[in-house]
Amino acid sequence: MKSVRPVQISGVGCYVPDRILTNQELERMVDTSDEWILQRTGISERHIVDRGTATSDMAEQAVRKLCNSTQLALSEIELLIVATVTPDMFFPATACLLQDKLGISRTWGFDLSAACCGFVYSLSVGAAFVAAGLHSKVVVVGSDTMSSIVDYQDRATCVLFGDGAGAVLLEPAKDENNALIDFYHEVDGSGGADLQMPAGGSLLPSSCETVKNRLHYVKQEGQAVFKFAIRKMEEASRTILARNQFRPQDIQLLIPHQANARIIRGTAERLCLQEDQFIVNLDQYGNTTAATIPLAMQDAINLERLKKGDLVLLASVGAGFTVGTALLRWAF
Ligand code: UT7
Repeated sequence: MKSVRPVQISGVGCYVPDRILTNQELERMVDTSDEWILQRTGISERHIVDRGTATSDMAEQAVRKLCNSTQLALSEIELLIVATVTPDMFFPATACLLQDKLGISRTWGFDLSAACCGFVYSLSVGAAFVAAGLHSKVVVVGSDTMSSIVDYQDRATCVLFGDGAGAVLLEPAKDENNALIDFYHEVDGSGGADLQMPAGGSLLPSSCETVKNRLHYVKQEGQAVFKFAIRKMEEASRTILARNQFRPQDIQLLIPHQANARIIRGTAERLCLQEDQFIVNLDQYGNTTAATIPLAMQDAINLERLKKGDLVLLASVGAGFTVGTALLRWAF
């Protein structure tokens, strides 16, 4: 192991499928209304893959876009980390399938399962490889095909999720002042039952019974998750800021996991953030699980809401329960 060196995010690449599922279409599928979905979640539409398109396909597109925007040659990628709860299959890992699709035979990689915190957790793992001097070009991908595990007969969950992928490049920082600063994560496994896909694993292997009982879909205790999320988004954000001698008002941009606009706005309110200090883009994408943060990063770049040197906070809460935060100075 070599000595610790500063690490930067050098670029972002994202992909969402063309097909859009609107609230109006959902009104025709389940007993819901555009008004309810908008008021309770802030979501207007989400992108959904066509049958046969998998998580690795979206990840491939995101990585190719990342390479275009950063002038990174695919062959330069040393390590691929794929955050997902909707892998193409149990095994091999989606990272292996992605490596093959990208045709980069000398790259290694693995998947990381942390639901909505998958991207932030993967970022900390990837950054550790770069910081330790073990790798200089690490690509972290958040990719989830939530439509493959959502029950389109369950109005409480089917309105929430969408499909998408986002990738970032981690490299040694060119300027140590504009680099990743810190990560702060927590797990509270006692909340596991509040958000899960019950069947298909070793506990409840797939059977006619599990299919009949619709146990291969996302099940959520919405209010329990909501309460945990709004509390922990604030607490974890305050913890990572305080231990780095920052205050909420020092942040240029909070890029939160996009699960519910009420959670994001509630968190922003508790942290006393102004409207221009946080980004909400779930109206167009819904909750894409591991992809929400890179998708929001990309939108912030497109909207010129990120500039070199900005203090950026990433914050997420998800199934597990998992809590993930990252603090950084934007590097480009
Ligand atoms: O990313 C992973 C983390 N996940 C989250 O952060 C999600 C956290 N939870 C939430 O965002 C919210 O709890 C939801 C958006 C899922 C639900 O909002 P809510 O305000 O907590 O609604 P609720 O579950 O308390 O339901 C209120 C009512 C219920 O009817 P009754 O019992 O009051 O008659 C539900 O049956 O709304 C009903 N309802 C719906 N009505 C129309 C639930 N889903 C729908 C729907 N359309 N799609």
